[in-house]
Order: sequence, then C-alpha cells, then structure tokens
Amino acid sequence: MFVEICDFPETPYLYQSKSFIMNDIQKRIETLRAELRAHNYKYYVLAQPEITDFEYDMLMKSLQELEENYPQYDDPNSPTKRVGSDLSLEFKQVKHRFPMLSLANTYSREELEAFAARVKKGLGVQPEYVVELKYDGASISLTYENGQLLRAVTRGDGTQGDDVTNNIRTIRSIPLQLSGNSYPDFFEIRGEVFMPHAVFERLNKTRTEKNEQPFANPRNAAAGTLKMQKSSEVAKRGLDCFLYFVVADDAPADTHYETLLQARKWGFKVPEYMIKTDKLDDIHRFISDWDLKRKYLPFDIDGIVVKVNSYDNQEALGMTAKSPRWAISYKFKAEQMQTYLNSVEYQVGRTGAITPVANLEPVFLAGTTVKRASLHNEDQIKLLDLRIGDLVFVEKGGEIIPKIVGVAEHTENSQPIQFITHCPECGTELVRKAGEAKHFCPNENACPPQIRGKIKHFISRKAMNIDSIGEETVDLFLREGLIKNMADLYDLKAEQIIALDRFRQKSAENIIIGVEASKSVPYPRVIYALGIRYVGETNAKTLASAFNDVYKLAAAKYDELIAVDEIGETIANSVIDYFNLPSNQEIVERLMQYGLQLKKSADEMPKSNKLEGKKLVISGTFEKHSRDEYKKMIEQHGGKNVSSVSAKTDYLLAGDNMGPSKLEKAESLNVKIISESEFLDMLE
Ligand code: IVH
Repeated sequence: MFVEICDFPETPYLYQSKSFIMNDIQKRIETLRAELRAHNYKYYVLAQPEITDFEYDMLMKSLQELEENYPQYDDPNSPTKRVGSDLSLEFKQVKHRFPMLSLANTYSREELEAFAARVKKGLGVQPEYVVELKYDGASISLTYENGQLLRAVTRGDGTQGDDVTNNIRTIRSIPLQLSGNSYPDFFEIRGEVFMPHAVFERLNKTRTEKNEQPFANPRNAAAGTLKMQKSSEVAKRGLDCFLYFVVADDAPADTHYETLLQARKWGFKVPEYMIKTDKLDDIHRFISDWDLKRKYLPFDIDGIVVKVNSYDNQEALGMTAKSPRWAISYKFKAEQMQTYLNSVEYQVGRTGAITPVANLEPVFLAGTTVKRASLHNEDQIKLLDLRIGDLVFVEKGGEIIPKIVGVAEHTENSQPIQFITHCPECGTELVRKAGEAKHFCPNENACPPQIRGKIKHFISRKAMNIDSIGEETVDLFLREGLIKNMADLYDLKAEQIIALDRFRQKSAENIIIGVEASKSVPYPRVIYALGIRYVGETNAKTLASAFNDVYKLAAAKYDELIAVDEIGETIANSVIDYFNLPSNQEIVERLMQYGLQLKKSADEMPKSNKLEGKKLVISGTFEKHSRDEYKKMIEQHGGKNVSSVSAKTDYLLAGDNMGPSKLEKAESLNVKIISESEFLDMLE
C-alpha cells in the first residue's frame, strides 16, 4: 500500500509534514474521484468510453485502497460507493416535496388532438411541445443539494415513497456529484429506472437456472431490484436511468427542453429521443416512427409523452388532482407476433390451482424473446380452439405475461389439447368445482408445491412474520425432511439446523427465536396464516371477530358462516372444506398446543350482547374514552361500527364538535342520537 502511494507524482511531499501528506492524499483521492466520474459519464451516459475496462478498474482499485486507508476522506457519493453494501435496510418512507403525479393516458390520435385543442383554448395560442418517449420502468425522484446526490425516492403512492438512495447510488449513469456549476443549489429531477433487454434476459436466465421465479418483464425486474435489501445485489443487476423532468424553484431556463439540455451537461442521462415542435403533424409522425422503431430499442417503451415546453404555459394550465393539464401520454397498442405452439405444460400453484402454460417456438416480441405464455385455464384453451402445432398470435400487453390471443392457423399436424386429469406433481386426481374456472389438486398437505407455498405464506410478513426464515431456508428444510408442514416449524431444534452445515449456531438460534416470537402474533393473523383458500387478511379479520376461537370457526355450519357480514358462499365453503380435512385438523390442533394465538385475547372477548345487531355511527370528540375505545366497546357488546348515517343506523353516538351534516341527517332519518354518558349507561 505504501508503495502505491509512493508511485504518485506528489510523493516528494510524503517526507514533509504530516498535514502536508494528508492534503496531498486528499488531493489524490479527489483527482481519482473526478477522473472516475468523468469516465463513468463517458461510458454510461454518452456510451463513448475513452479508456479500457482494465484501466478503469485500475483507477477504481487505487481509489478504493486510498479510501480504505484514509477513512477520514470518506464520501458517500464517491464512485467506489457504486458497488453497494451488504447492509440490510428497511426503507424509510419519505414524503415528496411535490406529489409525483401520473399522466393522463390517450390511446388514439383523436384524443391527442382533443388534448392539443384544450391546451390551445386554455392558452389562447398553440404552444410549443416537447415530445419524448415514455420509458417503461420504475419512476424515481432524485434530490441534489450543492451538486451532491442527497436522496432518491420511489414514486410510492405519489405522495410518499421509499428512500432507495443506497440502491440508486449503484446505478452508474446517475451522477453522484454533478459537473459544472450551473445547477441550482437545491433541486429535484425525476426519471425512469429501467432494465435494458440484454440485462433482463441474462437475469431471467440465471434465475430460471437457480429455480427462482423469472421476472415477467423488464419493468417488474427494475422495480423489484430497486426494492432489494442489499445494494451490493442491486449493483450487479445492471439498472440504468433516463431523466426527463426537473423540479426546481430556480431552473436554469424558461423551458422544459432547455432545462433538460442543461441537465445533460450536469451529467444526467437525458435521452436523445425527443423533439421540440408546435406542429401536430410532427407529433403524429413521431408516434408512427417510434411505434415501428421501438422494436429495435434496447429497452421497453410503452408510448410517447407530449409536454408543453414553456414553464409559464405549464403554470397557466395547472393540473387536476391526478395529472398535469400540460402533458399527456399516448400509449402504443400491444405488439403481436405469430409463432407455433409446441406443447402445453401444467404448473401447480401454492393453493393447488393448475395453470396450463404454453411452450412456444421462441419469438422476438417487444424487445424480449418469448418462449412461454400463460393459458389461464381449460375454458380459455377451448375458447381459442387451441391445438398443439397451431400457428398462434402472441401479444405482450403492459405488465402481463405474454398471452396467446388467437389462432392464426391450424396446421396439418395440429393435435387437440387433452387437459390433464391428475396432478403433475403428486398424481392426485384433479377437481374442478362448479362455477370455478381452474382445476385444483385437492392434496393440499402432501403435494410438494402446495406444502412449500403454504409454509412460505405462513411465515410471510403479514402472516406469522417469521423473518429469520427465508424462502430458501424453507426449501432446504423441506428437502432435508426437517419439516413437512407449518406445525413442524414449532418442533425445530437448533441442533438439527446446525447439523445442516449451512448454519452457524447464531443463525440457527435466530430461527428458533423467530419461531418462538411468532407465538404472540394475534389471532386474526394466525387465521390468515393458515392459508385457507380465499381467506385473505380482511376476511381473516372478519372471521376472527365473528368466531371467538378456532374451534368455533372449525365447527361453524354453512348458514352460520354466511350470516357473517362480508362472508359469502365461496369463502364459507372453503372454510368448511379446510376444516373437514383431517390433516388440517391435526395441524390446527398442534398449533393450538404450541401456544399460538388461536382465540381472541381477553380484551377482545365479548362482554355482553347489549348492542347485538345494532349499527352505530361515532362522530365528534369525547371526554371519557377515545373514539377507538368506543369503537372497541361497541364491538365487545355485539354492535357494529358503521361510518356514515343511513336509515339503517340505530344510534349516532355524538361527541363535541361533530359535523352538522351528520347531525342533520340523523335527525331527518329519525336515528336516535345519544351522548357519551347515555351510551355508557346503556352498557352498565
Ligand atoms: S413526465 C408530471 N416523461 O410515466 C409529469 N413521465 O404516467 C411527470 N414516464 O410516473 C412525468 N417516460 O414514470 C414523464 N418521458 C417521460 C416519461 C414519463 C415515462 C412515466 C413516469 C410517470 C408515468 C406517468
């Protein structure tokens, strides 16, 4: 290491005062960082590298070594930080300074003309437009302060998103420090993180080889990658990012177009694919051109975006609650290709649902090679009159997995498709219930993909939240015969886990601790965790609130189940089927023995039936208890909380400062209005 430093041109100072040496090193670090930044920009943004990969790696290595030895000069935005870290992080939620709006979509040229007419009417003149491609990835907001990347946040719900700064830092085309000095001190820039086709294909290939679920399309892959816990993994995924929108109080120009050109100079990858025009014909031509040329782009686009160029005009037009009035997107129709259907195979999902999947003669469609397509179910196959050997139309629409939309031609050798009668995984005879489109394998506790799926669901965050066990660990435990169902998790011993070789004492103990901790997960979530078909989180809550313990739920007759609000025929039958199965009864019994919360806690238990069948609305503020406490009391005494007053409401529990409209409505509908103390008296 010392030798390396001596190689630097500044080394004569090395033998002088210490502070001098340090300054020198600092200078060297800064020079290396600047050089690497410049090469990054040339390579990742301009695609015009000036040095070889080897030379680049050598520069990077020198910088890494210096930074390791002189941590006092650390900088989170150093080019070395692009490799990411192994730290696992929960993403912090960050509120957007300005909401991340979406764009109004159009699908026809007429709608586009109507947009232009609205804009012209609003402004009094036909403005200049910028027309861009609509990149199909995950939108991102980047904030820069004094030229340094401060924060990167996903769109989230538009109002707030996840702080993914550490992951974003690994994307080489995103500058961590800006060039020049014409950028605003503080600004936000928005763009689209995407995964180029070549990277996507490579990623899916390795995933398939490792028996992992491939991503449906590059957009999902990009969005999924941004949310990965380890930025070091993100760094390997080859994401890229186009920037298309600057949000600043002091933008460097009066127009969107000029600002983007400036942003390109600061180091951002601002795409070349845009035009500036005030002629609708140009816009139409841009659309037709790109509808053809998009096939050859190395990334996905799903339309084009038209934006009014002048910021003054944008401001004059304003926005609706959801989208700006000064911009619109035109979406391309899904691309179609023809290819041959070679065979059909059948996949068994975690709930036992059988999905037929078409194996196609590989065909290049919308940027990726398509080899498989979902066929949904037997009816779909019949509807399309699909036969093995047919020439078929394949379409890729938005986020969906490619699908076969029709038969172009039955070929000479086309063979009818015989839907399977037995499970391809366990050989059990399939069932198809009246009114259901899918076939199911009923062998829910012994069919391998179903067992796997059930256990993974059981440990998942919203269910038992046993995060010390990952999905791969479940696979391993199943393979090694340590578990056969979810109840077996509670029998696991640390020694058995350590004996598997892959685990150290500490991680084995963590697994046991995680399993133990799950015993305090509340009753409704345990019901959800059982994985009863059609019983999602909300239904699980409803069932848990209607039945005080799992035995009551298990014993419930059809009529009792459908008498519960929100519980219909399908769920009722599914609950009955679940508890009829001896293997499920055994699992539930064991879970009960291990001490899982399979009954209501003491304060959830009903206290009386004084409000049985009554509907109450709470409004205003109260003195003796909080609103939530009153809500709970209502439930504990058999009543039901409803949010708005109607003719069916029995009581309006009125506090201070309640809305006058609720009061008026209650009076006009003759709903009984009661005060806090009257309510408490009722329950006495
Ligand atoms: S401008 C207020 N420009 O489309 C306008 N958006 O539906 C901000 N998108 O969430 C968006 N390419 O993720 C803009 N050239 C482009 C775009 C683009 C793709 C995405 C973006 C946005 C969504 C709007």
